[in-house]
This record gives sequence, C-alpha cells and structure tokens, in this order.
Amino acid sequence: MPEDEEQPKKYRIEDLPGVGEATAEKLRENGYDDLMTLAVASPKDLSDLAGVAEGSAAKIIAAARKFADVGNFETGEEILERRKSVQKLTTGSKNLDALLGGGFETQAITEFFGEFGSGKTQIMHQAAVNATMPPEAGGFDSDVLMIDTENTFRPERIIQMSKAKNLDPDAVLKRIHVARAYNSHHQILLGERAAELAKEFPIRLLIVDSLTSHFRSEYLGRGSLAERQQLLNRHMHDLLRFSTIYNAVIAVTNQVSARPDVFFGDPTAPIGGNVVGHTATFRIYLRKSKGGKRIARLIDSPYLPEGETVIQISEEGITDGV
Ligand code: GTP
Ligand code: MG
Repeated sequence: MPEDEEQPKKYRIEDLPGVGEATAEKLRENGYDDLMTLAVASPKDLSDLAGVAEGSAAKIIAAARKFADVGNFETGEEILERRKSVQKLTTGSKNLDALLGGGFETQAITEFFGEFGSGKTQIMHQAAVNATMPPEAGGFDSDVLMIDTENTFRPERIIQMSKAKNLDPDAVLKRIHVARAYNSHHQILLGERAAELAKEFPIRLLIVDSLTSHFRSEYLGRGSLAERQQLLNRHMHDLLRFSTIYNAVIAVTNQVSARPDVFFGDPTAPIGGNVVGHTATFRIYLRKSKGGKRIARLIDSPYLPEGETVIQISEEGITDGV
C-alpha cells in the first residue's frame, strides 16, 4: 500500500486569520475541525452554526481555501492511470454484477438503499464473504472492516454463506473485523481509524451498515439539518479517501425516508440528501419482490446506463436464483 500517510505540514484552524480561540472552539464544536471542512463550507451554514457574522464566515472560508490544498488538479492521463488499478468485487449475483459494470468497484462508494427487509444487510454480509475469496472467484483475498451501527452483523449468516461457497467458515470469520458504532460521532471516529486497521490487515472492503441511521435519529428536524449534513459529508469523504489509498471497495447502506414531514417529501427517497447522493458513486435502490426476490435499480451512475435487475436472497446468500 502507498505509504502516503505522512501529511504535509498541517495547519490548524486557529492559524486562519480572524479565528481566535473562542471562534475555533465554536467551529470545532460544530464539526468544522479542519481546513478542508471549512474550505468547502457555505458562509450561511458557517454563520448559522458557529454564530459568526456571515461576512466573517466568508473571510474564514476564503482563508481556509488558501491554506487547504483545494486546487488539486490532476490531468486526464493521471486519472486514467489511477483508474487502471480499479478492481471489481463480485456481489454474488451475476445480474447485479452486470448492473454494476462487473461488481463493486474499488476507489468508489457504492450505496444500497431501500426499505426495511429489502436485503441491504444481506448484501453486505455476502460482500464480506466474497472479499475473502481469491481473485479467480471474484474476490480480493482480503480482510474486511464492517462498521455496524444497528447491531445486525450475524456470524451465523456468514457461516451459512461461506458453506454455500465451499469456504472454511472459521477462516472467513477471522477475516471480518466488526466494529460496533454506538452513535454518529463514534461512527465518524471509526471511519477515521480505519486506516490503522488497514496497516495491520489487508482491508480491501469497508462496509458501513447503516451509513445514515445514527445521523437520522440524532439530528431531528430542520434546525439540525445543516450540522447533520456537514458531519455526514466529512464521514463520507473519510471513506472515499480510504478507498483511494487502499484501492478498496466502500459499501454502505441507507434507509428511505418514511417521514415525509421531516425529510424530503418522497417516502422512497434515500436519507442524506445531496451529501450522500453526490458522494456515493453508485446508488442502488432495492425493492422487495415475490419469493425472496429483490429488484435492484441502478440510479445516477457516472458512466453506466440506468437499469434494473433481479436478485435472489436465500439460505445460500445473494444469487441470481433460478
Ligand atoms: P433494514 O436494515 O431493517 O432497513 O433492512 P435490510 O434492507 O438490511 O434487510 P435485510 O438485509 O436484513 O433483509 C432481511 C430479509 O432477508 C429477511 O426478511 C428475509 O427475507 C431475507 N433473509 C435473511 N436471512 C435469510 C435466510 O437465511 N434465508 C432466506 N431465505 N432469506 C433470508
Ligand atoms: Mg439492515
């Protein structure tokens, strides 16, 4: 793995002109704890959340943009080079792999959203098992980090799925590292710490199931929306960074809004609004169908056509069914 964990000189937010200790503290309390977060903030949000005048907020943001290395241009050639190292992890279903252009892609975030029981957690369990398989079988021969926010990881299910693939269940279980996240701050911290685990184990798949549940229950109502989006944005960028450094797949789950009064009106809309929508590279909407079947629809992909396919959830895990 690239040894680029060494950071260039890190400026603190106090280093910015116009940010004294009191302001710095207010900013930190509201999640603006590094230059990049400030650099991409909107003056209005900053002003509302940290209680600084909008004019000062704009100045702070402008300064943060100078200090933080925002203008990171890459040539098309460099991006193409980086994309050559992209690898695909099988989902277990050929149909779903095809919909995704070959499977879960590394250096990207893939989001599954849908109502309860739509199969999100099942797909995450299957991905975890698959990542441990050798490349010939569509895996990465790697370890897995799973951030579990709803306490839905089930080793028994991993054992079933492993047996269905003729894998040694104990060996598979040993490679899946589960971290229970107790609240959104804990979840963010685990995201930041993922790199530490990746130094010890070859982690090529990072799962967050569910990405949004803590944020949703902790930040209720319009008043806290900006702060929630801010933190979610930071968390997702930590995940994206991990995916590029470790050439890893990031797979996350998301619920749909069942509270049109609080969220965005459409009860089938995913939680997290634009922040999640813009940071997830692939978004798949799952719907229940008959007899353990699920309909998966790809939406908003940067280069794949929109489309739908059918997968099967059974004892064996995620397959195409018959
Ligand atoms: P929430 O987290 O509640 O939003 O739902 P989810 O989308 O994560 O749903 P999950 O992946 O937990 O799907 C649960 C469904 O998967 C169950 O209702 C079953 O239909 C199916 N399922 C889970 N385990 C098995 C199994 O061992 N055999 C079969 N046939 N189906 C299973
Ligand atoms: Mg679930």
